[in-house]
Amino acid sequence: MRQPRSYYAPLAIGAPQPYRELPVRLERMIHFVPPHIEKVRAKVPDLISKVDVILGNLEDAIPADQKLAAREGFIQMAEDNDFGSTGLWTRINCLNSPWVLDDITEIVGRIGNKLDVIMLPKVEGPWDIHYLDQLLAQLEAAHQVTKPILIHAILETAEGVKNVEAIANASPRMHGMSLGPADLAASRGMKTTRVGGGHPHYSVLADADGEAARTGYQQDLWHYTVGKMVDACMAAGIKAFYGPFGDFSDPDACEAQFRNAFLQGCLGAWSLHPSQIDIAKRVFSPEPEEVLFSKKILDAMPDGTGAVMIDGKMQDDATWKQAKVIVDLARIVASKDPDLAEQYGL
Ligand code: GLV
Ligand code: MG
Repeated sequence: MRQPRSYYAPLAIGAPQPYRELPVRLERMIHFVPPHIEKVRAKVPDLISKVDVILGNLEDAIPADQKLAAREGFIQMAEDNDFGSTGLWTRINCLNSPWVLDDITEIVGRIGNKLDVIMLPKVEGPWDIHYLDQLLAQLEAAHQVTKPILIHAILETAEGVKNVEAIANASPRMHGMSLGPADLAASRGMKTTRVGGGHPHYSVLADADGEAARTGYQQDLWHYTVGKMVDACMAAGIKAFYGPFGDFSDPDACEAQFRNAFLQGCLGAWSLHPSQIDIAKRVFSPEPEEVLFSKKILDAMPDGTGAVMIDGKMQDDATWKQAKVIVDLARIVASKDPDLAEQYGL
């Protein structure tokens, strides 16, 4: 890691000053669109008011012969729309691909001032972040980009998971990280073909009770990695996200996976299908009862110290901090969602 004095210095003369604090943005869902499809681009103006982040996907799921069309389509989509407070991100191709250099140079050169975040797939270690960090600074300087473009890493290789703390701390340009369960399963040699979610054979058997049939309780395959990622991200002051849930026909399982991630500390997830937008909105906005109860705690302990009983439950400095996490998030949600603002009383 760089020395404190140089950590926040721009990496190119004329590049914008790196952020010391991340901009406050609501990012409950990162909505993926395939930008090479004209019909999809035509729906972007309507999507802007429905989602927190729109991401033009250039990597996996885009056929090799459509890579250039996807890049051009993304640039056009960025030029044609005003995104307001909705984030504009792209997922570029991975660093060992033949497309990535042009993805970065073309996109930053042409729409660098509109782009909030670059999602970098298959990050293995801090060296991947350093490469993109330096290149972005050079391009920002060359094209008069006025605010730093942030980097969001996908945690989807065994080596990346091993190096997750170093990745999180690699640069002040780090926005956060998403778990990529499909590539990670492949990289680790996990025996599942699912994209996120549980597996019927990953379970614990209830104790034997004579001849009675024993129940198997499914466990969360992603619990360990999400926990490790959240710790690395929160310790570095960046954001953790769950990634994709591939079975569009099972909204309940999608909601359960998103909710586990939310409860463990994640701030959002990817929506790969329009039906997942509302699931993410529901899960990653705190529940009104939780917000009202948290407000009671903050009101009862104005300086955050001491101990009080509320509705029969003990509150102290630690629960005050838990309540503050909920109310701070509720305030960000309320600023974009008038219905929830009213339910939260904010
Ligand atoms: C996402 O990119 C994944 O591999 O799950
Ligand atoms: Mg992947």
